[in-house]
Amino acid sequence: MHSSRVTAFLFFYYFFLAVSGVQRLTLTPDRGTTLNISSQVKGSACKVCSGARRRCDTTLVLKDSTPVVVEFDCRRPEDVFRVEIIRNIECTTKSCSGDIIQADSGLHLWLDFHRTFTWNLKASVLKAIQVDFSKVGLRQMSPSVNCPDRHAYTMKAFQATGTVVIGKYCRAGPISSAQILNEGSFSLDAPPGLKLQSDQFGVSVGEEIKSLAKITVSLPHQSSSIELLSPNFPESFPDDDVMEWYFHIEAKQKANVEFLNLTQPRCLKKETAAEYHSKGREALVLRLTDTQPVQNRGDFTLTLRNCEMDRRRAGSPGLSVKIKVSASRASSQVLCGVDLRKMKVLSLHLERLSKASECEMKMNSVTMEKITVPSGSVTQLSFQDCLPNDVLVTASGVIGCTQLKDCPKSPVPLSVPSLPSCLPGPLRAVTWALRPPLHGTVELTSSIGPLQQHLPGQPCNDSIITVSEDDGATVGHFCPQGAIQKVQIHTKISVTVTRKGGQALRPAVKPLLMASLKEEIAERYIFTVSPKRDKTVLLATPGWPEGMESYATVSWIMSLPPKMEAHLMFFNISQPKCANRHTNIRVQRIGSLEEDYSRREDEEAEETSVAENFYLNMSNCMPERGDFKVITELTLQKSANMMLVTIVSVVAALVLLFIVVLVVVCFVIKKKKKKLEHQVSIYNPNGTDFRAGHNGFPKSREDNESHVYASIEDTLVYTHLLRKGAEMGVYTESDTYQPFMEQTLVSKDGNTMEVAVYQDYLLSDQQAPPLPNRPPSHNQALVDNVIYQSQPSLDEHSAKMGPRLEPEGGN
Ligand SMILES: *[C@@H]1O[C@H](CO)[C@@H](O)[C@H](O)[C@H]1NC(C)=O
Ligand SMILES: *[C@@H]1O[C@H](CO)[C@@H](O)[C@H](O)[C@H]1NC(C)=O
Repeated sequence: MHSSRVTAFLFFYYFFLAVSGVQRLTLTPDRGTTLNISSQVKGSACKVCSGARRRCDTTLVLKDSTPVVVEFDCRRPEDVFRVEIIRNIECTTKSCSGDIIQADSGLHLWLDFHRTFTWNLKASVLKAIQVDFSKVGLRQMSPSVNCPDRHAYTMKAFQATGTVVIGKYCRAGPISSAQILNEGSFSLDAPPGLKLQSDQFGVSVGEEIKSLAKITVSLPHQSSSIELLSPNFPESFPDDDVMEWYFHIEAKQKANVEFLNLTQPRCLKKETAAEYHSKGREALVLRLTDTQPVQNRGDFTLTLRNCEMDRRRAGSPGLSVKIKVSASRASSQVLCGVDLRKMKVLSLHLERLSKASECEMKMNSVTMEKITVPSGSVTQLSFQDCLPNDVLVTASGVIGCTQLKDCPKSPVPLSVPSLPSCLPGPLRAVTWALRPPLHGTVELTSSIGPLQQHLPGQPCNDSIITVSEDDGATVGHFCPQGAIQKVQIHTKISVTVTRKGGQALRPAVKPLLMASLKEEIAERYIFTVSPKRDKTVLLATPGWPEGMESYATVSWIMSLPPKMEAHLMFFNISQPKCANRHTNIRVQRIGSLEEDYSRREDEEAEETSVAENFYLNMSNCMPERGDFKVITELTLQKSANMMLVTIVSVVAALVLLFIVVLVVVCFVIKKKKKKLEHQVSIYNPNGTDFRAGHNGFPKSREDNESHVYASIEDTLVYTHLLRKGAEMGVYTESDTYQPFMEQTLVSKDGNTMEVAVYQDYLLSDQQAPPLPNRPPSHNQALVDNVIYQSQPSLDEHSAKMGPRLEPEGGN
């Protein structure tokens, strides 16, 4: 940092001595900084002296960073001497030796002197060097005019043909940056006694410009005009040279360019010209005397070009011009009919945000700062010059009932409505106030999938649903794609939908939530949660990151997928000191009378596991001080029993795979020989119609064997397997076993019988995997059958005979 700033001089110490009218001080210039003290009064006796030998002169230049004792041999040297502090900044094609320009306002010592801070700027070949004024903003001034705050900046370009004054600038204006080709300087001229503003300007590598300088002007939002001057004004623009101004204008803004006080040179070659360039349009080249066009299609560049001037005669004028650019709003009025007849619940609100904006909103021809369009109504609005960020558009509605019997019978959809596109801004928030009867409950379910809670470690990245209680306390922030199926809250609440970063809501046909107003529940909050495999669920106590209310209770009803167990960990626990009762964290399996886990505020809540559906209940005490809050992390694991089943399943799957491959091979052979497809039945000795995976699963080994092969009743079974094989590539455990198991476990409650049978079977059958195990005779039959089918003469017979497919002459 130090090298980039003109700290100019580091004063180890200084002291003014009035010893026989001599002022004496010790200076240590910064590295790379030059101090130039020079007399401005010709013939003055006052001299500046330095060094051990006390050499005195009208000027003194200090360059290196060794301390030097300087003395002025008169009483008021500030009346005679000026001080210039010079620093050099050089750039390569990638970076510069300094990146900030700042005049050191701490140089009290020179306060009474006329000071000039100069930064010499040097770009690498072809590139420009850029100075960024955007923090302060500059405005160009005639060289003869003083700046109101006396801070005058000057920019120069050093060309091969000489120095060009690009302009003199004062603080506060629309000029946001300047680029100087190759080499130039930027300086601040501070008259005696002026305390400097701590302006900072960034320095960076510029573009490859094709002009001596390029000035960027950001025209302000409101109507305004600025004046720019040709280089060297009022003297002549350099011979045969080019200068550029880039104007940034807002959408819906137009700029009018006028040339004032124009003096034109006599040209030897070429012509003076003004060129307009803007994105996506052809360049426009005009004479300077032409009427300049209105620019209304966004940013544009104005290039001013001089000719090769005839300056042989002394006093012949050069090129000079004042460029006046006036910006104004391209006025626009939008009429907007709003029809909310389809919106039964929601009213629309529009609020003008910034007093500074020129936006004017009218409802039925009356100008208003805030507009509410009631639900179910039709209104005519109009907007004058309103930009999307000028107006906040929201919607809100109330769903409520005073008695249960009056409440909506079916769940009310909460969806983001689509609004007319003529509104100036998009819809940014929708709020529903849900008012159940006294002691009633609000029940929220998501129609676009279960919800997750927005927490650190589990953030929502688009829509955010905020549920809050009537006193404004937040219950929680939620978004889709989680495990919370249902939220029940035993009080009035409001639900607000927004998008991250205040972005526009997206209207959707499908409601975000369904809300019902119902009878009382036993807890203050109940969440029904269905965790999924491989996805950790984080659940925070209501109000998080604040604590729960006194005595408030929350219950999470957890339903686990079959054969899984839940592992619970409690994070970020904060326990209060209770004045009355205790806080509690309890786990109880559903249907069980005992608690499986219970911890008070004075016990440590360590992790635990539950292998069945369960309640996780928490309750707060009446805290004396402190808060009760917890984040629960739930992960699913295969229950121990399932591990064994998995191993068996994998073995079974491998055997099945083997058989499928065998069948595929046979099938392909068959297909090659015959294209016509037939329904093929297989001999079934018992005559039972059985399909794999259906309820009548065999209870004995014998039955099973006959069934497995008897049940392959048609080629469709194989075609299906084939297709599946092709899709999946490899048979995994879930491909083969999973659907089957789940079918036997369809009903969770009456499941014990079926599961028991199934497991017994698997366990008794461990060595021989269950499905594809068949006696050799059946193997033979199958293979023979395929071969047999491939013979056309017998095919007809088989088709007619149906199940009697056992080949003649078979074993
Ligand atoms: C937990 O809360 C449920 C309601 O969700 C309730 O039925 C159950 O009795 C509670 N269990 C305990 C131990 O508090
Ligand atoms: C919660 O706890 C985790 C780890 O224990 C910690 O990293 C995180 O900062 C805590 N969060 C809050 C909000 O206190």
